[in-house]
Amino acid sequence: MKTILITGGAGFIGSHVVRLFVRKYPDYKIVNLDKLTYAGNLENLSDIEDLPNYQFEKIDIVDAEAVNSIFKKYNFDGVIHLAAESHVDRSIHNPLDFIMTNVVGTVNLLNAAKEAWKSNYEGKLFYHVSTDEVYGSLGVEGLFTETTPYDPRSPYSASKASSDHFVRAYENTYKLPIVLSNCSNNYGSFQFPEKLIPLFINNIKNDKALPVYGKGDYTRDWLFVEDHAAAIDVIYHKGKIGETYNIGGFNEWQNIDLIKLLCSIMDKKLDRPSGTSEKLISYVTDRPGHDKRYAIDATKLNKELGWKPTLQFEEGLEKTVDWYLQNERWLDQVTSGEYLNYYNKQYKHA
Ligand code: NAD
Ligand code: DAU
Repeated sequence: MKTILITGGAGFIGSHVVRLFVRKYPDYKIVNLDKLTYAGNLENLSDIEDLPNYQFEKIDIVDAEAVNSIFKKYNFDGVIHLAAESHVDRSIHNPLDFIMTNVVGTVNLLNAAKEAWKSNYEGKLFYHVSTDEVYGSLGVEGLFTETTPYDPRSPYSASKASSDHFVRAYENTYKLPIVLSNCSNNYGSFQFPEKLIPLFINNIKNDKALPVYGKGDYTRDWLFVEDHAAAIDVIYHKGKIGETYNIGGFNEWQNIDLIKLLCSIMDKKLDRPSGTSEKLISYVTDRPGHDKRYAIDATKLNKELGWKPTLQFEEGLEKTVDWYLQNERWLDQVTSGEYLNYYNKQYKHA
């Protein structure tokens, strides 16, 4: 019997990690801690919320007292920390929100774990989930490895890089048992439609313009979210303390090629003449400081822990489109309210 704290479990990736752990490990108690920001939605977990080994706690990780009280209430064996402000464009509007949650929130969790576990670190683990964006931007050649120097270039990636440094500093200074992973772009069900793929699915569905930043010649490495959750499971159970593992899909796409593929899938699914969705493409002002290319070398994770992605991108993208089209109520619910204010501000010149 283990008790594991998963933070950010009501968000996109977190909900997949919570679901995987709750179902796969019925003898673990999984505590999902989430503030429920605009990006957190308990409906993402409605299929497992009544299971006896699942518990939800509504907490803001910026509130140190509340975080400490959760560590007193439960006797955690491990933490898998995903809670974060995660959208680059929002970080450009409001950097401070990112510093508070991603940096201060992470340090609050580290302090609480250090205090709760101080008598004996044996069997304990603080797993910090991070991003490939901390490594900066690649040119046409090369891949990010675990030893690539940090070069964060947006307020979001700077806040994630800072949190990574604090996690490593707590191992070096206090010997807190930690592990980190840095992953590439995820896609799949339950992703908030501010990120490229669900935003464009939603816009095509509603015949709205597809705002492509710049010339659309930026490159990302895409990974199906359930493959990321599986990697987190492997790293949590088999990863070496103190190590970092890069996670990626070995799957690079230029934005415009991905968008055209998505348009053709949407035409097919919506039974529209071929070329209909592509007509919605609209080139708009670029994201300030836009990173050119991300690509992950996940060889270490593959060689040392045996993980590899399971889904081909075309298959995963089609599955993802099917999910959003079958879950209209979810989409409508998350795109009302606060989202509309954000959308109007972000895309005012589109
Ligand atoms: P998300 O925005 O979908 O979800 C974040 C969750 O954290 C939400 O449920 C939100 O309510 C919660 N949260 C935010 N601030 C909080 C606070 N102050 N206290 C408690 N909870 C709070 O994010 P995501 O895309 O699922 O990303 C999860 C993690 O994975 C993040 O740490 C992100 O940096 C990292 N990551 C994401 C990707 C990606 O492609 N989405 C890739 C690599 C790494
Ligand atoms: O690489 C991992 C990161 O991937 C995660 O750490 C972040 O949390 C996650 O949001 C994601 O960051 P990106 O900035 O790469 O994702 P986003 O979906 O915002 O954008 C993907 C690409 O599409 C990027 O080059 C910007 C472009 N884009 C995005 C939006 C929202 C557009 O052209 N138009 C848009 O409207």
